Amino acid sequence: MQSIRFFLLITCISLTFSVIWIQYAEVYRKTDKLPSGVKYILLWTQYDFAPFYYFGNGQKAFVDKNCSVINCYVTTDRDYFNGDTTKFDFIFFNGRNINPLTKSDLPLNRSTHQKYIYFNMESADNIPVCNKIYDDFFNVTATYRLDSDIPIPYVQVKNTHGKVVGPNIEMDWILGGAVTDEELAMRLKNKTKAVAWFVSNCKSRNNRREYVNSLQKALDPYGLSIDIYGKCGPLTCPRKQKNCSTILDRDYFFYLSFENSFSEDYVTEKLITAMQHDVVPIVYGGADYSRFLPPGSYINARDTTPNELAVTIVELMKSYQKYSRFFGWKSYYTFRDPSNNDNVCAVCEALNEESMEKPKYYKQFRSWWLPNFEQVDLGKKYVSVFLDLKKAVEAREERHKNRDRDSGLYPDSCAKIGIDG
Ligand SMILES: *[C@@H]1O[C@H](CO)[C@@H](O)[C@H](O)[C@H]1NC(C)=O
Ligand SMILES: *[C@@H]1O[C@H](CO)[C@@H](O)[C@H](O)[C@H]1NC(C)=O
Ligand SMILES: *[C@@H]1O[C@H](CO)[C@@H](O)[C@H](O)[C@H]1NC(C)=O
Ligand SMILES: *[C@@H]1O[C@H](CO)[C@@H](O)[C@H](O)[C@H]1NC(C)=O
Ligand SMILES: *[C@@H]1O[C@H](CO)[C@@H](O)[C@H](O)[C@H]1NC(C)=O
Repeated sequence: MQSIRFFLLITCISLTFSVIWIQYAEVYRKTDKLPSGVKYILLWTQYDFAPFYYFGNGQKAFVDKNCSVINCYVTTDRDYFNGDTTKFDFIFFNGRNINPLTKSDLPLNRSTHQKYIYFNMESADNIPVCNKIYDDFFNVTATYRLDSDIPIPYVQVKNTHGKVVGPNIEMDWILGGAVTDEELAMRLKNKTKAVAWFVSNCKSRNNRREYVNSLQKALDPYGLSIDIYGKCGPLTCPRKQKNCSTILDRDYFFYLSFENSFSEDYVTEKLITAMQHDVVPIVYGGADYSRFLPPGSYINARDTTPNELAVTIVELMKSYQKYSRFFGWKSYYTFRDPSNNDNVCAVCEALNEESMEKPKYYKQFRSWWLPNFEQVDLGKKYVSVFLDLKKAVEAREERHKNRDRDSGLYPDSCAKIGIDG
């Protein structure tokens, strides 16, 4: 009996190891087995922030996500080519991690064939690039900005054929008409509550909280409220319960898609939350929203005062005719978050494009990223935003371990950390 158990145990262990080994050998290491024309990528900064944590090790992410090209090989191992980092085709830098770095923390040798790529998913206003060493440094940009060499936005718009049509700097939207879906019409007629806001970061640098407070005051006389769910309000809807968003479909007329700072093209998954549910987004951000949303599908809080907005809300809640017009786009478009899949594939695809061969670099990179970077007042402490709750918890724990290292991530101002250093 004992020996059978022992035999089974050994079999199990060896099976597990061989499965792990096969995976490892196939996908992660056998460089001679990789297809020719592999793009070797070194992540200079770690996996801790988006989009790096989607990239995985080796080719794994591109294989798993069924990308059209998978010849990109990712590693954080600077010794991969025996310490010669000039052998990498691309070196990726995450903007969230580079402010504390000094010259000696950057690659020592640089080959002219290599491209250094600047990534950032965090708003430029929150994470400016301060250090002068980054001017004339990056060859390529990959950010949420639509004029990046590789745009990796938080929002993707598809047409009814499933083709990606947006966001784009110039959009040619089809104008929606009346709601034709009977069930949707019923749901819209059934709504009873005014405004919902899911928010976990109470502080921000664009006074969104003050706007919300004023809007609430303006809604008070009508007996309407902004229901605030999450850390910054009285209500909870645990994200573990997947049905949290059903209250948006069922109960609420409006949803606050308020960004935490104003930067060009900086719109986040807060927009998806609204567009994937039967609720009208009230947006507040630095973007030109016509690049992201069909006309007539949203309300821009920055175009109105809180008092005017309250009147609009009351009017729309009283008129199915007027309110339902906000949903006409649903016959033509769908919205999704491309962060985890399409954006990852887009990166590998872009590295294979012919245009990638052309020499290029950003001369005054700091002001490309944030034109007024020298003036920006980062005095109001910024609180980080995460796409993924699990990642947020992990990163928070990591930050506790690395307080000193991390303090440089959120500088008080560019001047403080040395614009010229
Ligand atoms: C992978 O993508 C191809 C087209 O590029 C598609 O035909 C196939 O069904 C996809 N497979 C999976 C598992 O998604
Ligand atoms: C950098 O390049 C020089 C000259 O080619 C070489 O001597 C040195 O070993 C290189 N350093 C590293 C870290 O690769
Ligand atoms: C509308 O509300 C009624 C009563 O609460 C409910 O019975 C019905 O299922 C709802 N309809 C829809 C489409 O949600
Ligand atoms: C979500 O589902 C749970 C259990 O299934 C239920 O108790 C809860 O009331 C639901 N929440 C909403 C907002 O519908
Ligand atoms: C990358 O940028 C550097 C300057 O920052 C430049 O010297 C080099 O030629 C560029 N390389 C490519 C391949 O564009």
